Amino acid sequence: MKLLFASSEIFPLAKTGGLADVAGALPIALEQAGIDIRLLMPAYRGIAAQTGARPVANLGDPFGLGATTILEGRVPGNRLPIWLVDTPGLFDRDGGPYQGAGGTDWPDNDMRFGLLSWAAARLGQKNSPLSWKPDILHAHDWQTGLAPAFLKAWNEPDGPGVVFTIHNMAYQGLFPPALVSRLGLPWSLYTMEGFEYWNQLSYLKAGLVFADKLTTVSPTYAREIQTAAFGFGMDGVLARRATDLSGILNGADYTIWDPRRDPHLPHHYGVDDAGPGKAANKAALQREMGLPEDPAAPLMVVVSRLSDQKGMDLLLAVMPAIIAQGGQLAVVGSGEHALEEALLSLAKAKPSHVAIRVGYSEELAHRLQAGGDILLMPSRFEPCGLTQIYALRYGTLPIVHRTGGLADTVVDASYDSLTQGAATGFLFEPSLASALQWAIERAIGLYRHPAQWARLRTTAMRQDFDWNHSALRYLSLYRTLRPTAETDQA
Ligand code: ADP
Ligand code: GLC
Repeated sequence: MKLLFASSEIFPLAKTGGLADVAGALPIALEQAGIDIRLLMPAYRGIAAQTGARPVANLGDPFGLGATTILEGRVPGNRLPIWLVDTPGLFDRDGGPYQGAGGTDWPDNDMRFGLLSWAAARLGQKNSPLSWKPDILHAHDWQTGLAPAFLKAWNEPDGPGVVFTIHNMAYQGLFPPALVSRLGLPWSLYTMEGFEYWNQLSYLKAGLVFADKLTTVSPTYAREIQTAAFGFGMDGVLARRATDLSGILNGADYTIWDPRRDPHLPHHYGVDDAGPGKAANKAALQREMGLPEDPAAPLMVVVSRLSDQKGMDLLLAVMPAIIAQGGQLAVVGSGEHALEEALLSLAKAKPSHVAIRVGYSEELAHRLQAGGDILLMPSRFEPCGLTQIYALRYGTLPIVHRTGGLADTVVDASYDSLTQGAATGFLFEPSLASALQWAIERAIGLYRHPAQWARLRTTAMRQDFDWNHSALRYLSLYRTLRPTAETDQA
């Protein structure tokens, strides 16, 4: 079975959040399941050199923005074959995948991701200039949402089966209707049943409507997005496609997130020596963050994009209570300016309790996971969430809102689950500061009983979210679309 896997970010080449982790790790597990895979992403600045990529096909100049070439390289580390969409005018610039240095969206994201989607569809066509043709195109989020629309518009008889995965309903890729002509799409698809959404062109809706199968990254989120509260206006569209929509839980890449061999940690540890191992990492983290080196203070950590989704306002509201109980908070995060400022001024006012690093640091994220006692993730909604899955493996007990993938991955420390030895963290609902505060108080209460805490930690560290389980689910889904395509092993 041949699979073209298209994503706007892929770890370790480009990353702003969990999508990159998924696109970096799931393909490795799919390849191990016998699938012949090609990754596809834009040739952002520097990536051709990192992958040793060379031109393999010329796709012409479909939108008058300069010639588009497909480069073929290998992902550093795992050596998976990757195709890069090289249109220098659109992708060869300093800055992130979606934003420039100042934090504002690139003004030409409509054409940048219109072109990425177009290239994914073009390489799925039978008359693609490349001899390797996919049985399945697997596209992710709004940045590749137009790919199934192009295939539909071209009425491609032997085109690939298309799977579209929703990582986040909050980002929809909404652009003015003029894009329909600009991208050479037919106006007949610009309807309520097509990719029109309140007088705009929605790249996300294009994916939701025109892909053969839809998935999202946890079973609970798959149910939630069919309701008005979580559907971001697309709940009706999704409910209509309910029979084609499923939730497949994300996994963790334990070659990268493993406290026994994580190169970013000062002290390695596993489930058998987690007590001393975490204590040593905690002391080092307190020193690194400039917090008092106090082994008894419950150290709470946050590794997060700072957006409305992540519920940081709830955290700010409960900080006085955390401080009153002797807790410490260490954060690495970036995003909305107001949230960055609020956390920075809190750290300035309470330097012996709160430390924040504004920005993006992969290394520090690993050290916070290892040195923390508790990971806070009070997200309003969370399609899956990877940070809490990593925290479990690092023995950092998560406090999470009971929503989406958080509800599917953390077992609340209730009387029953504690008795049965199944508890791995703390869940709260509804999404209110008072509920979060109660969960934090329950956690601190247990933290003060080291034997019980150690038992929870052991259970947490033994959880297995290996990607292989989820890869097999994707494989079954692909098989429903192409039952005769063969895999190498399996
Ligand atoms: P989302 O994709 O919504 O941001 P996830 O929990 O799925 O949430 O994934 C977040 C990923 O991004 C994790 O790998 C996490 O470690 C990383 N991350 C988020 N913010 C930062 C940051 N400021 N510095 C380093 N890594 C971060
Ligand atoms: C999104 C979601 C997050 C999920 C990630 C990877 O960014 O916000 O919950 O884990 O995608 O699927």
